Amino acid sequence: MLNVDKQNATFLYRQVIELITENMDAGTLLPGDRLPSLRKMSKASGVSIPTVRQAYVELERRRRVESRPQSGFYVRHRAANDIVRPIRTTALKPVPLRCRSLMERVYDGINNPNLIPLGIANPSMAKPAAKTLHRTMKRVMARAEERSIGYASTLGEPALRRQIAYHYLDTFGAQVEPDQICITNGGQEALLLALTTVASKGDVIAVETPTYHGMLELIDSLGMLAVEVKTCPEEGVEIADLERTLLKHPVKACMFSTTLGNPLGVSMPDVDRERLVQVLVKHDVALIEDDVYGDLHFDGRRPVPAQFLGSKARVLTCGSFSKTAASGYRIGWVVGDEDIDEIARLKRAFSCSSGLLQQLTLAEFMASGDFSRHLKSLTPVLQRNSERMRALVAEHFPAETRTSRPVGGSVLWLELPEKVDAEQLFDDAIGAGISIAPGHIFSPCACYKHFIRLSFGHPWTDKTEGAIKWLGQRVHALK
Ligand SMILES: Cc1ncc(COP(=O)(O)O)c(C=O)c1O
Repeated sequence: MLNVDKQNATFLYRQVIELITENMDAGTLLPGDRLPSLRKMSKASGVSIPTVRQAYVELERRRRVESRPQSGFYVRHRAANDIVRPIRTTALKPVPLRCRSLMERVYDGINNPNLIPLGIANPSMAKPAAKTLHRTMKRVMARAEERSIGYASTLGEPALRRQIAYHYLDTFGAQVEPDQICITNGGQEALLLALTTVASKGDVIAVETPTYHGMLELIDSLGMLAVEVKTCPEEGVEIADLERTLLKHPVKACMFSTTLGNPLGVSMPDVDRERLVQVLVKHDVALIEDDVYGDLHFDGRRPVPAQFLGSKARVLTCGSFSKTAASGYRIGWVVGDEDIDEIARLKRAFSCSSGLLQQLTLAEFMASGDFSRHLKSLTPVLQRNSERMRALVAEHFPAETRTSRPVGGSVLWLELPEKVDAEQLFDDAIGAGISIAPGHIFSPCACYKHFIRLSFGHPWTDKTEGAIKWLGQRVHALK
């Protein structure tokens, strides 16, 4: 059971993880069982105690085990559904977007307030900060009456840029100059500015698969092509596949969410993010880091975005308040480093500047400590919703259904029985008053035809439970 292969190129800690998960899957280690102690495991497997500890901590991060003080690591109880599998897509070459019209129909569903909103990823609504923000905005208007209705500067309100820089320093010790930050109209404009800074029409952009549909729409609208890189539901971008892709295609930039992805809810282990950056330096490829979900980790361990790992890679990090505080304020940012002048030029050309009142409000929301308090109370709600949703899917969907195991954020990715057409399910669900996101829109070649993404980023009600049960019954009927 316990032997690892030291000749095998796979990291030793990964082999320990595989040993443990194989034993869990085979039923040798059951929920509630204690894992062998670090010392015993080290002795039996022949790897060092720190390596075993690294493996156990990673299993804890994946929420397969939990540590109990003074006692050790234990197998967690979990919902019965299996983890979604890494997917072999059919088109691992640059392609234009295939499912524009379906995307439009999905947005119609998202924008319809009468539907139960399982299609939209809007985590801040799980525990809205509306009252605090309202009070803050009133204070700001009383204090800065005339100024608050004027233009902001192109890079954005200095007080907000300073607060964002302080947030980076406070959460993971990164030093960012406020002048390296450009405030944008949400994360989407941050992605647009970053992409137009590093690439042009006709260029190839590497994306995770599955990935956020807004990225795909952006790449396509700018006349660029997306190429998919295999993405493991528990470890993120597969570095070996990325290297193969970089050798095979003239990739100009990668657009990845390594800190917390959408739709998989996966976070790349820190060591892999470091390797990823090394690979990008070697191939001279830029990274656009979509970090809009980074603050929404369930376990509070905020991963450090690649830009702050101290490498020479060209990285532009995109952030947003949409997922954490107020999507309607449309305030995001991009950290530009040596690209900041070009970003500022493009910002001026595209949209001049972003709303000043919202910026002043968010600066005060952060400075007062309300933002950090809000994050601390929001993430446990999201985690509870995620567990409830996984449990209901295990109860009501066919047994073959697999789900992601999100470590943060607000969405669950489901692999349904192969015969189920997610577009059909989407149409039926709209008819029943429920919005969902069909898997097709998360890949440029629309290959996730029997996958769906469900959102748990809203207050949990009987209607939410009813909608999941209804979807389960419908999937039974379609399979
Ligand atoms: C991964 C990801 N990046 C960026 C965005 C865009 O964020 P914003 O609403 O701030 O424009 C979204 C929104 O859904 C997202 O899910």
